[in-house]
Formats: sequence, C-alpha cells, structure tokens
Amino acid sequence: MGVLNIDWRPKLPEKKDFGIGIVGCGGIVQYAHMPAYKKAGFNVVACYDINPEAAQALAKQWDIPTVYTSLDELLADPKVEIVDIAVQPWHQLGIVEKVAAAKKHMLCQKPLSDEFSNAVKTVELAKKAGVKQAINHQMRWDAGIAAAKEMITKGWIGQPTDAQIQVSCETPWHMWPWLASSPRLEVMFHSIHYIDSLRFLFGEPEWVTSRHAKYANQGNVKAETKTVTVMDYANGLQVLVAVNHYNIHGETLALFKFIGTEGAIEGTIGLMYNYPAGRPDTLEYRQKGRGVVTLALDEMWIPDAFVGPMAGLMRAIETDSVPATSTEDNLNTLRVVNAAYLSAQENRSVRPSEIQG
Ligand SMILES: NC(=O)c1ccc[n+]([C@@H]2O[C@H](COP(=O)([O-])OP(=O)(O)OC[C@H]3O[C@@H](n4cnc5c(N)ncnc54)[C@H](O)[C@@H]3O)[C@@H](O)[C@H]2O)c1
Repeated sequence: MGVLNIDWRPKLPEKKDFGIGIVGCGGIVQYAHMPAYKKAGFNVVACYDINPEAAQALAKQWDIPTVYTSLDELLADPKVEIVDIAVQPWHQLGIVEKVAAAKKHMLCQKPLSDEFSNAVKTVELAKKAGVKQAINHQMRWDAGIAAAKEMITKGWIGQPTDAQIQVSCETPWHMWPWLASSPRLEVMFHSIHYIDSLRFLFGEPEWVTSRHAKYANQGNVKAETKTVTVMDYANGLQVLVAVNHYNIHGETLALFKFIGTEGAIEGTIGLMYNYPAGRPDTLEYRQKGRGVVTLALDEMWIPDAFVGPMAGLMRAIETDSVPATSTEDNLNTLRVVNAAYLSAQENRSVRPSEIQG
C-alpha cells in the first residue's frame, strides 16, 4: 500500500472576515475558540460575558477591540455578523432567542440543550428568523475522525461492521465546577462528542443500549462518570462507546477502531492523553495480507478542530446552504444521547425516534 493521500483539514470560507461577537468568555473560548480563530484568520470584533471581568480578560488576552456589558449592545453592533455562544447549556436558549430576534447567524456550544424540548425550540427559533445556526461539534474535524471519514467515504473499509471508541483516562473535572451538580454528566457532556462523530461516520442507529455507573470516590460529582453505550444499525453494524473518567492508576487509553469488510482504521484520540494540551491523533489503515500504512496527523483536536464548525457556518452563509454541523442535524445526536439515558434508566434498548420534543 502506498502513502495515504487523504485531505482531512477543514475547508475554509472564501470570506474569512465575518465579524464574530463572542457571548460567554470562559475556559473553552480562551483555550480553544480564540487560538483556533487566530490561526484561521477569523475576525473577532466584540465579546460579552455576564461576568464583565471574564470579558475584559479575554479581550485583553486576544486583542478583541470591543467589550460589551450587555447582550443587547453586542447584538446592536452592525459589525457583529455571527454570534459565537459559549455558555452552559441551560443559559443557551435565552441567548438564542435574542440572537434570532436580532437576525444574526450563530454558532452554539454543545450540548445544544440539556432538555431535548429546549433544543427543538432553539432550532425552530433560527428557522423562523431565517438565520444560519450551527453547533460546535468540532470532533468531526479532529484529524483522526476527519481522515477516517474520507477513507470510509472512499470505500476503503468496505461495508462497516464494527466501530469502537474506548476511552479510559483521568478527567480534570475541576475545569468545569458547574458539572459536579449536573444530574446527567458523562453521556450528555462527553460521550456526546463520540456519538456525534459516529453519526457523522455511519449515520443513524436503530437501537441504543446504555449502562451507566459511578466511581467509588467521585466526591461531590453527582452523576454517571463511567458509561458503555451500544448502537445497533439496520445493516448489522454494531458500535461501542465505552468511557471511564476515573482511570487514576492505569495508562490512559483513547482509541478508535472502524472495521469493515475491506479494511480497518485504527487510531488514538490524542486530546484525551493530557486534556487540554493533548497530542496529535494517530491513525493506521490496515488490509489483511497487504500490511499497514500510517497517516501523519499534525493538528490537534484543541485548538485546531475548532476552526471546523465556524468555517462550516461561514461557508453556509456564503453559499446560502445548511451548515456542516447544523443544529437541526444535531437533534439526532441529542436523540441518541437522550435514548442512552432512557435505556440506562429503564434497563432496555431504546429507538432514538422515541425521543420527541
Ligand atoms: N466543544 C467542546 O469541546 C467543549 C469543551 C468544553 C466546554 N464546552 C461547552 O462550552 C460551554 C462553556 O464551557 P466552559 O468550560 O467555557 O465554561 P466556563 O464556566 O469556563 O465559561 C462559561 C462562561 O459563560 C458565562 N455566562 C454564563 N451565563 C451567561 C449569560 N447568560 N450571558 C453571558 N455569559 C454567560 C460565564 O460567566 C462564564 O464566563 C458549556 O456548554 C460546555 O459544555 C464545549
């Protein structure tokens, strides 16, 4: 087998200087959104946070020209063409209502909402306002996943038969103190990335079966931190997502395997080896009797993949098309997430279509 010729980098818009206004200037914006946007040459014109000190600090760190002390002021600024929302999910709908009323395009953070009915409302608001609305499911642009998508689309693994994402790591929960009291944790905030990526790679599952557990010493962290989710597909594909956030003593493991009738893709998710610094993903493609080839991946999930959702939104505005990670598509990710909770709660397999707003 020769050198792999796979184009896994995000496609950038023609126009890169859409004015971006940031709402919510916390951790993820500081260490992921801003470095990615700087690298891509995107144009952040303003920011706002309910905590003015957070907005001031972000503006200082990244030379953002205008800091607003209210959402209304930011939305009234004609230079703001895209609103980049990065707040906890229970605050998102109230902000989306105002952004839609101001007829601005928007990028929402994941999860779109912790309540499925509010996620549906979020999508409807953008539709009624006629604005583009995307979600920051940037793992689709993580180098290993983006490259695997290209290979699967080109038929390199043939018919997919078995897909696995397995992660066993020690997660720095202190980075998100607000998660400790959340009644739903692992699948809603973490496995959701894998579920969204697996839907991107393989489409919609027929059945979801999920088991949830807690670590013996997880202190004030209220909800599940170890989960196993199986997704069964109509064509016989079976998908496993297995995640443990309290691997205190062992070696970190963060792997993906996508196996088909014609070949197999195997790799590691670099970010999970030392969040948020991480390391590049690895990826190997194998065919029985033909050996193995390795794809060199030099970009990181954080920050590089964060270019993808914003670039996808800008391309959708340019071409008046649907954003790559549209919030409407995201409702199906949330259906799987909510099906996983129903499955764990009721000890049964659940069809995603059972989840209705
Ligand atoms: N895509 C990813 O990979 C990823 C990674 C981490 C976090 N997130 C998501 O990003 C969001 C923010 O996470 P974080 O880690 O940055 O949290 P954070 O607590 O560090 O930051 C959130 C910020 O939002 C501000 N805020 C809250 N309500 C607001 C409101 N109504 N108006 C304006 N500002 C408001 C807070 O003051 C805070 O500064 C969460 O939804 C989280 O799930 C996504």
